[in-house]
Amino acid sequence: MYTRENADKFVADRKYLLKEEYRLTFHLMSEFGWMNDPNGFIYYNGEFHMFYQYYPYQPVWGPMHWGHVVSEDLMKWKHLPVALAPDQDYDRDGCFSGSAFERDGKLHLMYTGHLVTGPDRDNEYCQNQNIAVSEDGIRFEKLTSNPVIGPEQIPPGLSEKDFRDPKVFERDGVYYVVLGSNDGQGHGLILLYRSEDLIHWSFVGEIARSDGRLGDNWECPDLFELGGRDVLIMSPQRMPAQGDDYQNLHSTTYMIGRLDIGQGSFHYERYEPVDCGFDFYAPQTTVDAKGRRIVMGWMETWETEIPTQLGHYWAGAMTMPREVILDGEALLFKPLEETVAYRHNAYEASDIRLAGIKDMQVSGDCYELEVVFQADQAEEFGLRLRVSGEEETVLSYRQAESQFRFNRDLSGIGLGGERRTKVELKDGLLALRVFVDKSSVEVFIQGGEKVMSGRIYPGADSLGIQAYADGLCSMVSFKKWDIK
Ligand code: FRU
Repeated sequence: MYTRENADKFVADRKYLLKEEYRLTFHLMSEFGWMNDPNGFIYYNGEFHMFYQYYPYQPVWGPMHWGHVVSEDLMKWKHLPVALAPDQDYDRDGCFSGSAFERDGKLHLMYTGHLVTGPDRDNEYCQNQNIAVSEDGIRFEKLTSNPVIGPEQIPPGLSEKDFRDPKVFERDGVYYVVLGSNDGQGHGLILLYRSEDLIHWSFVGEIARSDGRLGDNWECPDLFELGGRDVLIMSPQRMPAQGDDYQNLHSTTYMIGRLDIGQGSFHYERYEPVDCGFDFYAPQTTVDAKGRRIVMGWMETWETEIPTQLGHYWAGAMTMPREVILDGEALLFKPLEETVAYRHNAYEASDIRLAGIKDMQVSGDCYELEVVFQADQAEEFGLRLRVSGEEETVLSYRQAESQFRFNRDLSGIGLGGERRTKVELKDGLLALRVFVDKSSVEVFIQGGEKVMSGRIYPGADSLGIQAYADGLCSMVSFKKWDIK
């Protein structure tokens, strides 16, 4: 029987088994077991609450619970009791992804109930939307009127089973929710519903649909206003690659456009990846007291083996939080200023000529680098991180192709591969902020124009940091801080 209490007790009794190797230090992870999507991200009563898709019993996906954490600065997290367990008839096979909002001072969650309806679990299921409310921000009661949106409210001609991941927002006193779905013919799409009382919901419209290039099912939509524009972020499944973009099995994309809330339509011109690395999915955003729009994603990829699943008793981490900034027709993703308070042991060097490999005299497995390269004549230049013997993780720039690359072929155990993305130099300069945390690398390129995230599993002794150039170039500045 899945209950919140059983889940908490199971974890408390077994936490001692957890292996520390590869555990991150300033990223969110579950205490034990499996984690996927961020859910219910909200700034409420003076602190950030984050929930997440959680299967505490094994480090593999299973009937979904909602884990729950709070944080003051999104760097250090405190674990709270499990918020939702699949303990009702309407959610017995999982409390799938959803969002949080505040109403009358109370924290509300809206989530998808998942029900398996036949022997073929992967294909025979249906989904509905539910609400749970908390008086104290910790213990949640599911409404007796659940489900508040059932599969019978799916418009005809669409998938009758994929109907999930409600993200709630309010406009002019009315609640709206976007949901991910598909047309049953290989096109992902987003549905919009509205309600005045949270109990009765009516269908407004299908606001966007894949033109055939954007995946066969859309998950985890998030629709918000930013700088007078409407932004849609969502995660298309099985989106075919487009050049160097969308190389992972499932992707995440953003569109800047205009929502016509009366008509139920969203107009956009183009779409761009949210992250160009290996491991980023199902992100969710919130706004904090300072008005910042902040996004966090799941720093993993579906349907791959995660090394900590074998004998480590945990799997899954979230990315660092990133501030989302509208910059013309694009979004920038930047590390939060809160990271600065965790910088220790500053090291700084400037005007360094590079020809071949240079050992940077500093090392580590949990740090931030801020580096500015002057490209000069070099064909290729970059950084080698987590280096020892044969191991290295390479971040490089190739001038001829205007291409930035993240290569983890020699990173250690786990999956290898390379991801590439187009980056233009600015006055011949390339500016990077790199965050390394035990088993992760996140690189913010040219002030957040592009971000690449990936998990790596190097040996504990692979701590070296090198810069290199094929040809001649220089580093205008190289700064490193340990993060503690
Ligand atoms: C996205 C997703 C969601 C679903 C959840 C289940 O990663 O597939 O669509 O709600 O994970 O855990």
